[in-house]
Amino acid sequence: MLAPFTPGKKTNPVIIDKSEGSYVYDINGKKYLDALAGLWCTSLGGSESRLIEAATAQLKKLPFYHSFFNRTAEPSLVLAKDLIEIFTARKMGKAFFVNSGSEANDSVVKIVWYYNNALGRPNKKKFIAREKSYHGTTMTAASLSGLPTLHQQFDLPLPFVLYTDCPHYWRYHLPGETEEEYSTRLANNLEELILKEGPDTIAAFIAEPVIGAGGVIPPPSTYFEKIQAVLNKYDILFVADEVICGFGRLGTMFGCDKYNIKPDLVSLAKALSSGYLPIGAVLVSPEITEVIDSQSNEIGSFSHGFTYSGHPVSCALAIETLKIYKEINIVDKVSKISPKFQDGLKAFSDSPIIGEIRGTGLILGLEFAKNKSPNDPFPREWGVGAYFAAHCDKNGLIVRSAGDLIMLCPPLIISSEEVDELISICGEALKATEERVQELKSQLN
Ligand SMILES: Cc1ncc(COP(=O)(O)O)c(C=O)c1O
Repeated sequence: MLAPFTPGKKTNPVIIDKSEGSYVYDINGKKYLDALAGLWCTSLGGSESRLIEAATAQLKKLPFYHSFFNRTAEPSLVLAKDLIEIFTARKMGKAFFVNSGSEANDSVVKIVWYYNNALGRPNKKKFIAREKSYHGTTMTAASLSGLPTLHQQFDLPLPFVLYTDCPHYWRYHLPGETEEEYSTRLANNLEELILKEGPDTIAAFIAEPVIGAGGVIPPPSTYFEKIQAVLNKYDILFVADEVICGFGRLGTMFGCDKYNIKPDLVSLAKALSSGYLPIGAVLVSPEITEVIDSQSNEIGSFSHGFTYSGHPVSCALAIETLKIYKEINIVDKVSKISPKFQDGLKAFSDSPIIGEIRGTGLILGLEFAKNKSPNDPFPREWGVGAYFAAHCDKNGLIVRSAGDLIMLCPPLIISSEEVDELISICGEALKATEERVQELKSQLN
């Protein structure tokens, strides 16, 4: 009898030693195509010399200065201006710099609470987040996330967070329900929740345009249009968490462009620096910044920030990153390469062990299931997803596996030949996984 593959079994870590374009190498010299772009972030691959030069030049000139007490350094001012310019889904007012996506979402909550205090609405403080969303791991960001593993054993979530439906059509639609009908039902559920809690207690709704780490879940048709109509009706702010979707990932500069989202606040990180240095930002609407500006003399200054907010070296590197996105027309590049990536992988949809393959732009999720059904998973101890990922790994391809879900998010500079390689290794891994499932099934008989 075959020993079952044990997911989560402790093994020695793979130690990555160097990177080059879309590839990384471990300390034994093994080469991997990095189909997760580090951790959904190295959009320009692992060896963009212009970014290294920009950071080095800034390190030589001014390696550090802070942004407290009415002082700052020039790169943070330039980057703020560049970000306000590049974000065109609606006009934003200011950028607030942080060091990560989690800090961005933490800061979002404080900005929104300060804003509602300034407006004399001290009870309008709750946030509505979505099941399966991922917004980070600080106390606040983990609370906003709709993933039970981030809450269990940490005494989370904090009580100001409410959860509404995960918009995953394949998994949750009713028999015969169209995507549009499903979106209407979710918007109605959201409205019911708001009415039950009291609209005067709800400050904001937070969403990733495409859910990333929670399973790569693009929204069903008309979803954001209907959700935004409900939020507008009750004066509830929209926070777009663009930490993964931002800067070209979906084939538009931001997820908000793709889904016609008009956010009040936007969280950014990851591809803002192509992952090379820690930096994040919150873009804040002019309406909110005006209230904060005008009220800070009345209710006390906005006392929030970090030593490394607007770090000059991270900002200089991010400025260069945005410059490169513009010069190489990153949106066009992703739009051209993504059909090959999406179609090539979605061609595996007919496999009897695949439930759904979903994605858009250069992000994709592949979910294993029995009988094509979201309600018919393989036994956990079979470790189907982990087996697939281990096979990819063996053949030099890094993917992310979580249970029976595989997630891919390659560097945006991935070439056509590299997409061929990625698809070919996934195809081999799928074949091996099908055989494995067949073997395990036959042992049951
Ligand atoms: C959508 C989203 N928001 C926030 C975060 C948290 O970012 P960080 O890990 O930089 O704190 C992540 C990280 O993966 C993310 O995917």
